Amino acid sequence: MEGVTTRTYRTVFRKYFGGVDKYFTPFLVANQTHHFKKREIAEVTPMEDELVPQILTCNGSDFLWAAKYLAAAGYREVNLNLGCPYPTVFTKGKGSGMLADPDRLERFLAEIFSAQDIPEISIKTRVGVKDPDEATKLAEIFACYPVKEIIIHPRVREDYYQGKLRLEAFRMMLQTLSCPVCFNGDICEAADWQKIGNTFPAIDTIMIGRGLIADPMLAITLKREAPGYHADEAENVKRLKSFLDELWYAYSDVLYGERDVLFKMKEIWYYMGRRYHDRERALLDIKKARYKDEYADAVSRVFDI
Ligand SMILES: Cc1cc2nc3c(=O)[nH]c(=O)nc-3n(C[C@H](O)[C@H](O)[C@H](O)COP(=O)(O)O)c2cc1C
Repeated sequence: MEGVTTRTYRTVFRKYFGGVDKYFTPFLVANQTHHFKKREIAEVTPMEDELVPQILTCNGSDFLWAAKYLAAAGYREVNLNLGCPYPTVFTKGKGSGMLADPDRLERFLAEIFSAQDIPEISIKTRVGVKDPDEATKLAEIFACYPVKEIIIHPRVREDYYQGKLRLEAFRMMLQTLSCPVCFNGDICEAADWQKIGNTFPAIDTIMIGRGLIADPMLAITLKREAPGYHADEAENVKRLKSFLDELWYAYSDVLYGERDVLFKMKEIWYYMGRRYHDRERALLDIKKARYKDEYADAVSRVFDI
């Protein structure tokens, strides 16, 4: 998630929670300059285990440049972003903008999948731009290429990240595709995954975004056998608190000043706060905090410690 699941976040997350088999970077923009920004280079170098870099572009040769760069950095899989809904991305024909013109998408995929000496390519997509019926055509196109895995967020671009999931369109894609399919969307607790697993017995891989930021224990909870699982709530709060403390210090090392660190922590609390409905006042104080002390005091009140 752009701005949220940064290398700093991933590193501290792994130390305290984990339970995740594969991490994806926020999108890295591949454009005609054939240079990544400093921030993007720091996301992928030095090479990070279990990490799949994600590329955002609508140009085949720019994609191939990025894929080769990432191969040289040690990565064996790259992910193509066909889902980003934001206007600045969409109007340039990137992200979900690629889904708006199937003929162009087909030419793009033909170019990148015929290249040699690049990592395997997985795809992150939606089920359409405006209408979930677009899913059929899109799945037929994807089915023509040796895609390592397709991660489907069953919403159309116009849904952004809200509204009912388009599960019929997901089912349609699942039936058409022969490559591994990963489900992504609105998994916030074990019951959500159970529902999806029951509805689509063929699905055994899920990607979690907001749900995992809101509850960093979620992946461990879903895989109860994973090391580090604690059913003890007091133990969990302690761990969450230590995680947030260390994240603060880790961000202090890479950002410029308390204000920027505060901004990052507030972004995370935007998702975490949803689990603490009865702590309205303390959550508001986190949102309004101007200094570290104010922030730390409000966090303690959320956790009752
Ligand atoms: C703030 C934010 C940033 C995101 N950045 C990315 C991104 O860089 N690449 C990507 O593939 N998806 C991105 N997403 C989408 C998520 O990966 C995911 O598809 C979406 O949030 C739905 O899954 P969830 O309900 O588990 O969060 C972003 C979502 C949010 C809310």
